[in-house]
Amino acid sequence: MFLGGRMSLAHSCLPAVLLALMTAAATGANECDLLGDKEKESKREIALLQRLEPIFNYSGKVTVQRNQEKYLYIFQVCREIPEGGTNSGLVQIDGVTRKTTVVGRINETHITSGTDWIMLTYKGGDNYGNHCGGEKRKSMVMITCNRKILTGELTMLVEEREKEEECFYLFELESSVACPPLDSHLSVGSILLITFASLVAVYIIGGFLYQRLVVGAKGMEQFPHFAFWQDMGNLVADGCDFVCRSKPRNVPTAYRGVGDDQLSEEPEERDDHLLPM
Ligand SMILES: *[C@@H]1O[C@H](CO)[C@@H](O)[C@H](O)[C@H]1NC(C)=O
Repeated sequence: MFLGGRMSLAHSCLPAVLLALMTAAATGANECDLLGDKEKESKREIALLQRLEPIFNYSGKVTVQRNQEKYLYIFQVCREIPEGGTNSGLVQIDGVTRKTTVVGRINETHITSGTDWIMLTYKGGDNYGNHCGGEKRKSMVMITCNRKILTGELTMLVEEREKEEECFYLFELESSVACPPLDSHLSVGSILLITFASLVAVYIIGGFLYQRLVVGAKGMEQFPHFAFWQDMGNLVADGCDFVCRSKPRNVPTAYRGVGDDQLSEEPEERDDHLLPM
């Protein structure tokens, strides 16, 4: 029985594992490729690429209108864009002519980061015509930290093409992947608080068991040191009454000095002046 259960588990797992391996092999071809051969890639960039993994399926679109021109930009994180052809990671589509221009390719990926942002750069886009010395287009996507969302809206910031070289397209995207890890260290205060709460719990539970099982107490008496805490409660209540009830209903009596005998007479005295003359 036991062995049989194991076997069927292995059988049901096998297709899933195979499927996972196959999809990994299939997607492996069109991923972000960093500069250099596999073993010569920057460790830092590899680590950053791993941070981007949760948004690998993200696809963002943004339309930009400038004078008579209207362009649609499509951006994918480390995946090829069908409209753009081999290795395209960011494409521009002319709103009128439908001409598609690749402005960055995923096989020429560079990544850098700061405290709460990651900059993803795709180089190797189509060549400029008259601008920028005819160099290959380059696009940069600034991913900024927003803990509330996995991915936000893609926005286009700048198209710089007035330089002689090193022109670029700059985009912005909000995502939680760009956020620094939360500091999970407990402060001294919370450690003390947790310790105190645990001690109180141990006291109540331990005392309860002792009173019930060893002393054989019943009802409320099962709480440890019940009489003591009851007295304590009364004392606290008295103290609170004394401190918090700052406005006695009859002011003059408060100046007479407080003695137990006087206190017992008070109610009658207080009422005196309320009587109609
Ligand atoms: C990236 O891909 C494009 C298109 O397939 C190709 O022309 C280019 O040489 C590739 N770049 C690198 C660095 O492999």
